[in-house]
Amino acid sequence: MNTIIIVFMLMFAQYGYGLVMDTATSTDALMVMLAEEKQLRAQFEIKVTGQVTDLQNKVNSLESSQECGCDGRLTEIPAFMAALSNDRNCSKGQKVVFDDIKLNRGQGYSKSNGIFTAPITGTYMFTTTLSSDPNGTYHIALVKGNATNEIAYMYAVSTTQWSESSTTVVTHLDAGNDVWMVCVSNSKIEGNANHAVEGAADFHSHLSGFLVSGDH
Ligand SMILES: *[C@@H]1O[C@H](CO)[C@@H](O)[C@H](O)[C@H]1NC(C)=O
Ligand SMILES: *[C@@H]1O[C@H](CO)[C@@H](O)[C@H](O)[C@H]1NC(C)=O
Ligand SMILES: *[C@@H]1O[C@H](CO)[C@@H](O)[C@H](O)[C@H]1NC(C)=O
Repeated sequence: MNTIIIVFMLMFAQYGYGLVMDTATSTDALMVMLAEEKQLRAQFEIKVTGQVTDLQNKVNSLESSQECGCDGRLTEIPAFMAALSNDRNCSKGQKVVFDDIKLNRGQGYSKSNGIFTAPITGTYMFTTTLSSDPNGTYHIALVKGNATNEIAYMYAVSTTQWSESSTTVVTHLDAGNDVWMVCVSNSKIEGNANHAVEGAADFHSHLSGFLVSGDH
C-alpha cells in the first residue's frame, strides 16, 4: 500500500517537474525568437530606409535634369509658338515675322525680328503652317544661320482654292544658333485678321518649335 503511494508520488513529482521544465524551455526559446525578430526587423528597416533614400535621390536628380536638359542654367524647356496676326506680302530675302506670340518658354523667340535663338545646344523640332488665298503664291524657307541655309521649304502656287500647308523638321542647334523664315521669292501669306470663320480667326500661319533633347 505504502509502496503504491510512493510510486504515485514519484510519478507525479516527475510529471510536474517535466511540465515546469517544458514551460521554462518554451519561454526561453520565445524570448530568443523575439530578440532575433527584433534584430532582423531593425536590419530590414535600415536597409529599406537606405534604399528609399537612394531612390529619392535618383528621382530628384532625374527631375532636375529634365527641367534643365543641360548643365543647370535653364529651368524651362525652350518652346515657342507664334502666329501671323495680319496678311503679309514679302519679297526675296525678307524675314517673315510671326508677331502674335502664343508661347515663349525660355524666351528664345523674338517678335521684333522673327528669329528663334537656341538657348541651349540640342535637338530641336520646328513646325510651320502657312495659308494662301486663292490668288496667293509663296515660296518661303525655314533657315538656320543664314538666309540660304534652308532646313525646310514651303510653297504654294495660285489656285482657285484656299490652301494651308504644314511641314515639320528636326534639327540640331548649338546654343546661340538662329532659325527664322525667309521669303525665297515674292510671296503672299494669310494672317489671322479678317479671316474669322465661326469665330476661329487664329492659326492661318504660324511657326513653332521646341527642344526635344539637350546635349549632355
Ligand atoms: C499684298 O499685295 C497685293 C497685291 O499683290 C495687295 O492687293 C495686298 O493688299 C497686299 N497685302 C498686304 C498685307 O500688303
Ligand atoms: C483672284 O483673282 C481673280 C482674278 O484677278 C479675282 O477675280 C478674284 O476675286 C481673286 N480672288 C481673291 C480671293 O482675291
Ligand atoms: C550659310 O550656311 C551654310 C551652312 O553653315 C554654309 O555652308 C554657307 O556657306 C553659308 N552661306 C553664307 C552666304 O554665309
